[in-house]
Amino acid sequence: MSDIDAYDPEAFRAAGHRLIDGLADHLVRAGGRDCPAISNVAPERMLEELPARFPAGPGGDVVMRLLEVVRRSTAVHHPGYVGHQVSTPLPQAALAELTSALINNGMAIYEMGQMQTVMERHVVAWMCGVLGFGDGSGGILTHGGSLGNLTALLAARQARAGHDIWTEGTQQPLALLASDQAHYCIDRAARIMGWGAGGSIAVPTDGRFRMGIDELERSHRRAVDEGRRVVAVVASCCSTATGSFDPVDAIADFCAEHDLWLHVDGAHGASFALSERTRDRLRGVERADSVVWDLHKMMALPSLNTAVLFRDGRRSYEAFAQQASYLFDDTDPGSEWFNVGRRTMECTKRALGVTAYCMLEAYGTAHFARHVERLMELTHRLEALVVAAADFELAVEPEANILCFRHVPPGFDQDLDGLQARIRRRVLDNGRYYLVQTRLRGRLWLRTSLMNPNTTEDDLEGLLDEIRATAANRGHRLD
Ligand SMILES: Cc1ncc(COP(=O)(O)O)c(C=O)c1O
Repeated sequence: MSDIDAYDPEAFRAAGHRLIDGLADHLVRAGGRDCPAISNVAPERMLEELPARFPAGPGGDVVMRLLEVVRRSTAVHHPGYVGHQVSTPLPQAALAELTSALINNGMAIYEMGQMQTVMERHVVAWMCGVLGFGDGSGGILTHGGSLGNLTALLAARQARAGHDIWTEGTQQPLALLASDQAHYCIDRAARIMGWGAGGSIAVPTDGRFRMGIDELERSHRRAVDEGRRVVAVVASCCSTATGSFDPVDAIADFCAEHDLWLHVDGAHGASFALSERTRDRLRGVERADSVVWDLHKMMALPSLNTAVLFRDGRRSYEAFAQQASYLFDDTDPGSEWFNVGRRTMECTKRALGVTAYCMLEAYGTAHFARHVERLMELTHRLEALVVAAADFELAVEPEANILCFRHVPPGFDQDLDGLQARIRRRVLDNGRYYLVQTRLRGRLWLRTSLMNPNTTEDDLEGLLDEIRATAANRGHRLD
């Protein structure tokens, strides 16, 4: 045992005060654009700079090291952060996370997280209500949209395979249908379930990257003709690259006709149901069998925090029809809603409902509707700037807070894709903005997700100016 008491409450109190001060200073700096949106360091250099050895005895200063992590991270609270679909988290949500980490109640079973379990249940019930699911709906919280989609699709498989596949396994070639814009985790889920490369069938999308019903019918017929048993259709709401919403209502009609499970991947876009101004994009979502909804994308919570919601809550017991007599009462699984480990991939699990419950209680549900509306206002502002500029091209009219565009300097007749990639690299090196890129039908586009409600219109004008300056300074010969 070392001579330092690692569990000393006073040392924790002192370190905590220093840490919170440092984090609050970070919020001031990032919010005031006084630090880079990204401090871009090559992986090899980072590897060299950070000690790889750990001392045998004590000596490191946790707070100093943590604040260095903060300084060197991508600053999602910086108004120039317009990159991936990662939220600008509510600072107080981090306090909830800290608390859950300290008490470390694992939540597989009710005894290890009693209030936490009920908080999760209330959050899930509220989310089901937002989607328009009725009595008997339910679900769980889990770690991320990828795991959430897999969990929902496991339930779909069990419900539509035609036999007890969890117990018996299968030799039958099963499949799901999802648009060619679906997040890669859908294809990954099909492969994890043993369906192979043909298990996730890509349905072609229209000019706005949305699943077409005619194409869905054609893809379904072809799969059946090839001997596949299709169990589910996945509607992307919205897609990752362009934020396009598949038409849920029409897909629900198709699923009803063919007795297929309808899963909505609403990892990003389910939050659009929160506002009357945006919920039309999800018309028909109340007819879905399951919906995945990330709270760490459009609900401003820290990663990861995902709801897997079922119109018929009993379905959530089918994803993992596992027996574990040392943990669960196996006589009636449905009566054991309070042992969430039965319905999640995780056994020990972070108390995700605590953060969600506390934020909903503290700020009120309307706050989250306004959050979505604000991010859409910013997106439309950027769209207007791009459309008005002769030297920019818009990929597709945005339905969500994701906007793809590219810089087309007048008279530039060289490799436009290469230009976008080089511009992006230079913008990241400058550090005032963080944006990403995506390939759409073979062409490279700059991609922005407007995630930070504190981004201003001036920031957006500044972004286009920065892109122009980056291209112009080097006479388009960026390297
Ligand atoms: C539509 C969609 N589904 C699933 C995911 C995966 O979610 P996660 O990163 O939480 O695993 C993403 C992530 O961007 C997404 O956009």
